[in-house]
Amino acid sequence: MNGAGPASLEELFALHHSLGHRHYGEGVSADDHARQCAALASADGASGELVIAALFHDAGWYLHDDHSHDDGSVDDDHAAAGARILSPLLGPEVAQPVALHVMAKRWRASIDPDYLDELSATSRATLVAQGGPLLADERARFEAHPGFGAALALRSWDDRAKASLVDTPDVEQYRSLAESIAQRFNESRARVTTGTRSPDSGQRQDGESGARETEALSRSQRASDVPHERTRHGHQSR
Ligand SMILES: [Fe+2]
Repeated sequence: MNGAGPASLEELFALHHSLGHRHYGEGVSADDHARQCAALASADGASGELVIAALFHDAGWYLHDDHSHDDGSVDDDHAAAGARILSPLLGPEVAQPVALHVMAKRWRASIDPDYLDELSATSRATLVAQGGPLLADERARFEAHPGFGAALALRSWDDRAKASLVDTPDVEQYRSLAESIAQRFNESRARVTTGTRSPDSGQRQDGESGARETEALSRSQRASDVPHERTRHGHQSR
């Protein structure tokens, strides 16, 4: 692994196995949370890309030494960090929902007063560091984003994937799916590089620039852009 994250799918899975025992902070381990999230996506009939996005949606935390939600640590944008890890390995259809899954939480918080009550205490607390509920103009920009629907779906699985004592498939069960997605992505990239673009390769190349736009959208709506008084909780945690 280089300093920026895993350089291959093999390293990504190895990293998950080495860190999955970490306490997620809400009564489950990071591995439990990832597996439950992927299982919920799969049960809802999500695309393979979205199932893998669900599995690795918290990959941004892999680059941190500490994965405890209970320690009050600052959320330094694990969604964007995760997308940066996943994008070169699995492509934009996996990376984009990951990049936007925190934005989706902020969107839900801005339109649904009951949503805050549904969130775990930790997730309510991290909403502050993540920027709080979206403002009306932020909401409109997010709703116009092509990744809006997938991000909302991922968020709903993420919020529900915190049950204890739930038996879900092992992460290894998803390896072949991830490998096939990575292979398609690499073939698509190779076609673009050699100038033999297929109809879908244009979409995937656009997806890469789309990922940059996604990150820009995410950056523009970070906590620093949101008036502090809009936040409802005092502590800086994720
Ligand atoms: Fe999560």
